[in-house]
Amino acid sequence: MVKVIRGGTIITSSETYSADLLIEGEKIVQIGKNLSVSENFEQFDVTGKLILPGGVDVHTHFDLPMFDTVSSDDHYTGHKAAAFGGTTTVIDFVPQNSDQLIRDVDDWHAKADHKAAIDFGFHMNITAFNQNVADTIPQLIPEGITTLKVFTAYNNRLRLLDGDIFRTMRIAKEYGFLTMLHAENGDVIDILVEEALAAGHFEPVYHALTRPAWGAVEAVARGVSLSAQSGAPLYIVHMNAAGEADQLQYARELGLPVMGETCPQYLFFNIDHLRRPDGAKWICSPPMRTEEDNEGLWLALKNGTIQVIATDHCPFFYDGKMPIQYEGQPITIPGKELGKDNFTKIPNGLPCVGDRLPVLWTESVSKGRITPNQFVALMSTNPAKIFGLYPQKGSILPGSDADIVIWDPKMKIPNYGVNWSHHRTDYNLFEGWVLQGYTDKVFLRGKLIVDGQHWLGNSGQGKYIKRTPFATVM
Ligand code: URP
Ligand code: ZN
Ligand code: ZN
Repeated sequence: MVKVIRGGTIITSSETYSADLLIEGEKIVQIGKNLSVSENFEQFDVTGKLILPGGVDVHTHFDLPMFDTVSSDDHYTGHKAAAFGGTTTVIDFVPQNSDQLIRDVDDWHAKADHKAAIDFGFHMNITAFNQNVADTIPQLIPEGITTLKVFTAYNNRLRLLDGDIFRTMRIAKEYGFLTMLHAENGDVIDILVEEALAAGHFEPVYHALTRPAWGAVEAVARGVSLSAQSGAPLYIVHMNAAGEADQLQYARELGLPVMGETCPQYLFFNIDHLRRPDGAKWICSPPMRTEEDNEGLWLALKNGTIQVIATDHCPFFYDGKMPIQYEGQPITIPGKELGKDNFTKIPNGLPCVGDRLPVLWTESVSKGRITPNQFVALMSTNPAKIFGLYPQKGSILPGSDADIVIWDPKMKIPNYGVNWSHHRTDYNLFEGWVLQGYTDKVFLRGKLIVDGQHWLGNSGQGKYIKRTPFATVM
């Protein structure tokens, strides 16, 4: 049925204006003042509210096996939490388990497709490189996978040597992939971890102390240099240190095709959070740094050095022995308690996919740090452009998917936290925060899937989106 959304203010990455939206089937078909509709239609009066393109979170890990457990949101529960927070498209990472990349992709589809509740795409991790892998990478393009993640850390597990990153990037350049870099120094980390354990240091804060910021800064510089030498574009994931932003800014000023993302956790938290008795809740890789780093990253967002805010959503229970109620069922999934005596055994990652828009709106737009248009750019339009989804996603234009968030900037949540956020875990990093601004309604390809606190969606409704290669470098 035709839907008309009337009375709202449309916010795009470049404009703010009042207009009605006409949706037919899955698409936006018309935008204008006082649109007249002849046939049967459903009308939504959103006077006083804002109309945003659905959020695009390009960094999630659902159902990811790690350290004898698995990230506690799967491709249904994580998508549902994302939707409540105003995100309608996510991109998840396919682990490389063999040199048969297409088989690995098929395995990830088998986990995701029947559960998906919002639209989704995949990145491919390249964590072991040989001629077979080199020959197979181009086959990912017809699968709609146009991004490759490589790691300079996690020695003997995920790390690629520099030469293999260089080889990967040459292939990327030829076929139009964007390479995504996890930037830390794996060699230094291994030495520091060994020394910390030998000295009897097992507390969560040693996770951060053994992964120094300088290793991340140096690895960003290395990535930039490999981009320059291969000619391939590069995107730095989960940027966490001001020095990383400095490297990126320098490279961009030289005209190199390098971009970056940061995540909410790196804007609001620091190493002191890992010193708390419940510090394991904040363990992720790379770790949180200092307040100066938080400020450096804010600056990089404001001045355009960093283009995207994603989440790296990879949740684990804090106490995986205590059941939570999820959709009426008791759920326990082993989590952070696995490392209660040893920080190296704490699963790395944290919940955030549903928090991203509400927390950032409160802390950035409501507090005057960025404009509503910059917010839309960072949360939706830039990631859609960089990751080959635009203008199907990330935009409010005739012909775009009708992924629409009706945003209530006046809605106040006095006590945000685990009871609001819908993640399938037992804690929330923003517990007790006062939020100003929240989703009122969410449409996925024209279907109303979130109405206030009511979930109207279902597993399997999310569609896999094939992305285009040679996407925008911005
Ligand atoms: O701690 C994290 N971030 N876990 C997910 C893996 C990664 O490197 O993004
Ligand atoms: Zn990473
Ligand atoms: Zn990640």
